[in-house]
Amino acid sequence: MNTFGKITLGFALALSATSASVSIASAAKLTLYCSAQEDWCQLMARGFEEASGIKVNLTRKSSGETFAQIKAEEANPKGDVWWGGTGDPHLQAAEEGLSEPYVSPMRAKLNGWAVSQAKSADDKTIGIYSGALGYGYNADLLNAAGLPVPACWKDLLKPEYKGHVQMANPNSSGTAYTTLATIVQLFGEDEGFEFMKKLHVNINQYTKSGSAPIKAAGRGENTIGIVFMHDAVKQAVSGFPIKVVAPCEGTGYEIGSMSLIKGGRNPESAKKFYDWALSADVQSRSLEVKAFQVMSNMNAKSSPSAPDLSTIKLIDYDFKKYGSSAERKRLLKKWDDEVSVLPQ
Ligand code: F6P
Repeated sequence: MNTFGKITLGFALALSATSASVSIASAAKLTLYCSAQEDWCQLMARGFEEASGIKVNLTRKSSGETFAQIKAEEANPKGDVWWGGTGDPHLQAAEEGLSEPYVSPMRAKLNGWAVSQAKSADDKTIGIYSGALGYGYNADLLNAAGLPVPACWKDLLKPEYKGHVQMANPNSSGTAYTTLATIVQLFGEDEGFEFMKKLHVNINQYTKSGSAPIKAAGRGENTIGIVFMHDAVKQAVSGFPIKVVAPCEGTGYEIGSMSLIKGGRNPESAKKFYDWALSADVQSRSLEVKAFQVMSNMNAKSSPSAPDLSTIKLIDYDFKKYGSSAERKRLLKKWDDEVSVLPQ
């Protein structure tokens, strides 16, 4: 072979080696189950693709629905990471052996509450954000209907609000399960269930997703939505006539969480995503989609529009109890049997 032939052969070999490594790199992928709002899920999926070159296959479902999917797929897991959604079903997944323990090198950068969430679940989940529960109302619709301005949980039981209140179904939605668990913790179980029964009379619809009731209020299709306060703020700063209420009796809160799914097919990609998602820069990008939770990375940026948790009367939410498998199943069954079946 002459010199030209050697060079050509060498070039061809180098080229095929390059294309082999390109195809290996492009084969890396990740299946992401996301339980935050759709726009934030998209931002996380596309942001990770850009940062890592790893192709992301995204499914967005509410917290309770995602838990049910991971449970149904237990024998043949299809997801790699579950990012976002309220902490209770993540804790239940940990207890039921559906998630993998992992200690990220990013942990030192996180607030104490995020790390406590991990420690209470043998490192099978971790806190990524926090936010308080409350409700929001459409001020124009409220005025037009001549309704008083509500300020407390118990105000929502008044007969004049019949047909004006919306919340999600606690089976599918983490927001609504947090509502049920908050009411039980605030008023005790017996009084709490009486509250849920009276509230049921005023509910116009139980939605699948937790933030849907306040989006409907923003569009003028519903008056009051029981949601996380940050989801009501998002509607208000987007220009809708939504006012946000921190209920006078006090309220519960969530530790939105992330878990690695046990037996996931792409464990290396999953850990890369996990570390990336805990970084300050990535968490600060939540503001691009008006996600006003408090982020778990201590250096993540926050917005002056975000609800200030230090000024809200928060209950000492018992995550261990209400995130346990037995208690979550028991409360949901009781709500199904005793509340959802009542006439409205
Ligand atoms: O992203 C908005 C948000 O309210 C999160 O704070 C929360 O973890 C999640 O949605 C809960 O959604 P769902 O009630 O639909 O499970």
